[in-house]
Amino acid sequence: MSIVRVNVPGGSYPIQIGKNILRQLGTSIPPDASAIVVLSNPTVRALHGDAALNALKVTGKDIYHFDIPDGEQYKNLDTLNSVFTFMLENKLDRKSVWVALGGGVVGDLGGFAAATFMRGIRFIQVPTTLLAQVDSSVGGKTAVNHPLGKNLIGAFYQPIAVDIDIDVLKTLPQREISAGLAEVIKYGLIMDSEFFDWCEEFADELIALEPEAITYAIHRSCELKAQVVEEDEKESNRRMILNFGHTFAHAIENGIGYGEWLHGEAVGCGMVQAAELSALVTQFPKEDVERVRALVEKIGCPTVAPTLGGNDKWFDTMKLDKKATAGKIKFVVLDKIGQAKVQGAPQELVSLVLKNTTSADVETTSTSTASEVPKTVKAAAPEVVESTVVDSAEVAAEMARRAQMARDAGAGTGRTGGIYGVDGKRPDSDD
Ligand code: NAD
Ligand code: GLY
Repeated sequence: MSIVRVNVPGGSYPIQIGKNILRQLGTSIPPDASAIVVLSNPTVRALHGDAALNALKVTGKDIYHFDIPDGEQYKNLDTLNSVFTFMLENKLDRKSVWVALGGGVVGDLGGFAAATFMRGIRFIQVPTTLLAQVDSSVGGKTAVNHPLGKNLIGAFYQPIAVDIDIDVLKTLPQREISAGLAEVIKYGLIMDSEFFDWCEEFADELIALEPEAITYAIHRSCELKAQVVEEDEKESNRRMILNFGHTFAHAIENGIGYGEWLHGEAVGCGMVQAAELSALVTQFPKEDVERVRALVEKIGCPTVAPTLGGNDKWFDTMKLDKKATAGKIKFVVLDKIGQAKVQGAPQELVSLVLKNTTSADVETTSTSTASEVPKTVKAAAPEVVESTVVDSAEVAAEMARRAQMARDAGAGTGRTGGIYGVDGKRPDSDD
């Protein structure tokens, strides 16, 4: 077992990672807990519910369990209310402890229920998808969706422990593993070049869930995320780098309809697009763009995005990204592998990225079974934008043109098609 500690003003807690962690769940329950409530969904409960319940029995406490329906569409206020009704009908009090056993949907909704029930009760995250283990269970973002957009109703509320059992990943469809690995790679790209090198070297072992490799990948991902969250718990600045690839990814998810691609699949593709953009707006080397593309492809995520019917749709959606201010889109870009920053980009350079990374032939509908990776086509060989030496007059003209474009972009509200934008919907406010 390995342990990562998170220390933020909102709480200090251990993340335990390894095999058989589920069987030791009872040890995470505080002695003064009045009762334990396990929140899950029917899919996860059928696979891992008994192991969790048996492990909790050693505490000698009353154990309740409540399932929410499986699916992102149930991460909403109605489901939350059903949870509160269950808690109240069973006379659960402020000393009861909540265990969220499931993927990001259960964790986000369970965390928000814990944050708000009787003004806050203690809760433990037991993430069962790779994405939840390396991202959503760590850092205290909790939320439910609103009809007008994802994750809009929520709170920063830290768990008292995160218990990560790598064995539960064995029942996860391969597509979900690929989606989780995209977030793993992200940490290397934005913060730790050696970790990225390591992911390249051990990609096969990661895809196969080889225990030593996957434990290290989860450990390092949690460590890097904890570092960012400790610097900026409430996402006023630094935490935004965790959104690398997400500006493009949210446009894909919003454009083709949520649920068609898994979030991590869209992030994988979005990271390739963000790497392409980095090569145009920073000194990010072109050969490293190809390393990003190759690794995203190797872990089984798409590397070519759908066209969404044209760039207007892309820009309309990207302007709704939470990093955008006054209609100016901002992106997380890389200076080099392991170093990220947030900045704007001229629209014509983003258009060039879209030209090189999208194809009308990309299949946008989900495949019949979750274990299949969605088919993508290879885009035509990306148009290489050579870094050429230009004279200073050209540079000055280019700077003036970009400044004008930035002023033009700031002139609009950035919102179209209703109060929250395209199709009256706002994309994920934050993952
Ligand atoms: P999910 O919770 O919907 O889980 C995906 C599917 O896998 C579900 O059908 C689930 O029942 C199933 N499943 C879970 N564990 C399993 C297992 N061990 N074996 C077999 N099947 C299993 O999706 P997710 O990708 O885990 O999470 C996505 C959610 O997380 C979104 O709502 C997103 O907004 C949120 N999110 C939050 C944060 C955050 O910081 N809070 C970060 C990223 C994503
Ligand atoms: N998933 C991004 C964050 O937690 O900030």
